Amino acid sequence: MKIIILKTAEEIGVEAAKIFTDEVKNNPSCVLGLATGATPIPTYKNIQKTFNEGGITFKDVKTYNLDEYCDLPKADKNSYYTFMHEQLFNGLDILEENVHFLDGNTTDCEAECKRYDDEINNAGGIDIQLLGIGNNAHIGFNEPADEFTTGSFKVKLTDSTIEANKIYFDENPMPRYALTMGIKQIMSAKKVVLIATGPKKAEAVRNMIEGPVTAQVPASILQEHNDVVIFLDEDAASLLKK
Ligand code: GLP
Repeated sequence: MKIIILKTAEEIGVEAAKIFTDEVKNNPSCVLGLATGATPIPTYKNIQKTFNEGGITFKDVKTYNLDEYCDLPKADKNSYYTFMHEQLFNGLDILEENVHFLDGNTTDCEAECKRYDDEINNAGGIDIQLLGIGNNAHIGFNEPADEFTTGSFKVKLTDSTIEANKIYFDENPMPRYALTMGIKQIMSAKKVVLIATGPKKAEAVRNMIEGPVTAQVPASILQEHNDVVIFLDEDAASLLKK
């Protein structure tokens, strides 16, 4: 694990964005795995900034998002589909047919998850996967569990995740279920970039980096990935011993 500690979330956004824009410049038809949440917003802003400066195109880039809420209309302001368009895609020349999400409104979750995993594999797998981390060390929506998950699946969200994310749901109640890529799928990305900022992430960060690899700390599996970069601000890094 390569761990980079920077002062502010803004500085992390600049550095993390550079990894993605360098990849797009070197490999214009790359496949990116993307994440939602407040954490990646500065990264997305800086990807847009580099795009606006010119000399880079996203028209052959494919993206696959990690997860999506169940039973929330795609156009809802809190769907991850809406989030990604507002925070990133609308500011790029990426083609709508190249951005991919799990369909949280499907009536057949099993078939939908298989479709998504097959599509990622047929696209050649993910070149760089961006991750945030939940307060309970979840990645995507892989909550603490008895075993590491494999492919995409439907997950019941934990109370901790509902508590953390419900602040965004002022009109409709927050969904209790989501579809998410599984841990094995995330681990098969060629490179992983995880960002954690703020004091609420400190314990999850410590457990991810310094604790044992266990499905109770889903992000700890990243210790076994051979190309992972972890960006932390000083608050998120505050409980690390080394
Ligand atoms: C959600 C997403 C995760 C994200 C996490 C942390 O649960 N499914 O992918 O990493 O929230 O979000 P935030 O960055 O807002 O703390």
